[in-house]
Amino acid sequence: FGRNVFFYEEVESTQNIANELVFKGAEEGTIVLAERQVKGRGRLQRNWVTGEGKAIAMSIILKPSIPPKVAPQLTLLAAVAVASAISKVTNLKPNIKWPNDILINNKKVCGILTEMHGDSDLISSVIVGIGINVNQEKDEFPNDIISRATSIRIEEGKKILRSKIVQAILMEMEKLYAIFLEKGFVPIKLLWESYAISLGREITATTYSETIVGKALGITEEGQLLLQDEEGKIHTIYSADISII
Ligand code: BTN
Repeated sequence: FGRNVFFYEEVESTQNIANELVFKGAEEGTIVLAERQVKGRGRLQRNWVTGEGKAIAMSIILKPSIPPKVAPQLTLLAAVAVASAISKVTNLKPNIKWPNDILINNKKVCGILTEMHGDSDLISSVIVGIGINVNQEKDEFPNDIISRATSIRIEEGKKILRSKIVQAILMEMEKLYAIFLEKGFVPIKLLWESYAISLGREITATTYSETIVGKALGITEEGQLLLQDEEGKIHTIYSADISII
């Protein structure tokens, strides 16, 4: 991964550039990096702010031959790659909040957005977008998110070279992706669970249609969250916003 790197000073979103590259036939493992995103996208139609010169905004192009329902597993894989890269490059102990927020000391340091192309039988490409707060200081975060967001620098107490983190992520991604293609999701699931913060805890899951309060039991073989509500009923959650109670 990272043999083809496209670097931009300013883009709307690295996801859009990666999309265009896919249509032009970009190879698997192609990376798009940007210093500034003017229309960065988050999950659930949210905006994503990239702290200029201090954050990582990266999209990675993957071309696995898998059915679309397996795609969420790649999002979890990317979360494991980021968590393990951060633990290798810093002294921090990152956690993953389902599906793919990376938290340090309970605050969000990284978000991952996966988008795919293909038809209902087979995916032709997956674009994994990774946004990481690296060198921002506390006063650089908007007031409305400072209680929930952090940067590696704030938690580590010193600046970290962004290139070191990018390199570590690419190495981890490449390693995990090879394991995934060869052995499937099970080994990735075990690693994901070793970083998971919400399992066994009471959480609130807000889906597009309802809010469910219950205990996070684990994830399925496909990567969805299993949630047991107060009446004992088990829900399989495909997409939701999770808060830990
Ligand atoms: C989230 O937590 O909501 C996901 C945030 C994903 C942000 C990254 S930054 C690089 C890539 N380009 C985007 O526009 N979004 C992703």
